[in-house]
Amino acid sequence: MSNGSPYDAMFSGIIGRDYDMLQRMSPLSAEMSKIVGQAVKLYAEKAGRPLSVVELGGGTGITTLAILSSSDDIVVTSIDSEPTMQNQARENLKQWVDKGRLFFKLDDAYNALTTLPDNSTDVLATAYTVHNFEHSYRERVIEQIFRVLKPGGQFINGDRYGLDDIFEHTRNVQEEVSGFFDVLIAENKPDLLEQWIIHLINDESENHVMREGVSIKQLEEAGFADIALNHRMRVNALVTAVKPI
Ligand SMILES: C[S@@+](CC[C@H](N)C(=O)[O-])C[C@H]1O[C@@H](n2cnc3c(N)ncnc32)[C@H](O)[C@@H]1O
Repeated sequence: MSNGSPYDAMFSGIIGRDYDMLQRMSPLSAEMSKIVGQAVKLYAEKAGRPLSVVELGGGTGITTLAILSSSDDIVVTSIDSEPTMQNQARENLKQWVDKGRLFFKLDDAYNALTTLPDNSTDVLATAYTVHNFEHSYRERVIEQIFRVLKPGGQFINGDRYGLDDIFEHTRNVQEEVSGFFDVLIAENKPDLLEQWIIHLINDESENHVMREGVSIKQLEEAGFADIALNHRMRVNALVTAVKPI
């Protein structure tokens, strides 16, 4: 992400316009948004007070809705750099905007985070966004997330976390590709199939792939504590981490 490659901004094109299809190609990714919502709910129940949540890569609003539904007492700021995606979320989640519970920011994740004050956010929740980032950009985003979280605040990320066992990981990715063909050939969507395969190659490339072990170490180095990886479902997992008090 963010090195100017034409394939990085693919959510602006056919993938963005036909993003709902992903739920059929990859039901586990839709499940992960619910898991992120449950993690926010758990945090909200323990906190027992109104919470501010920042979401990175809100996309069409699947994860945003899960977060908003987790508690009546949270206000979400959802950041995304792609109008094609965010405009769908604006349409889908209008009622939450009208209630003053949802704000949108059309901006690059890193830029948007740098505008937020230190220690200002209770929860940074996100799904399937951070894995799109190139390594050095991801590192800078993680540092910003740590800075903007309040002490005791939590980072919650449901995402592609590559298995440290490369053989097992490759088998999972091969099955994923096979699933893309099953669904998109049956739907007669060869253009979308092509774009998802190109996207997957980007995700799995050496300068993007987000492996479990490296990611946990990166969070430790940024200062996070209570780092946990749960809900492993093939290449998907939920990672949570707390900014120490
Ligand atoms: C795969 S979608 C995830 C959407 C939703 N969270 C879900 O789980 O379905 C990733 C989103 O992250 C956004 N995104 C990717 N890189 C970004 C960046 N550097 N800054 C802001 N948004 C970004 C994309 O535009 C896209 O909408």
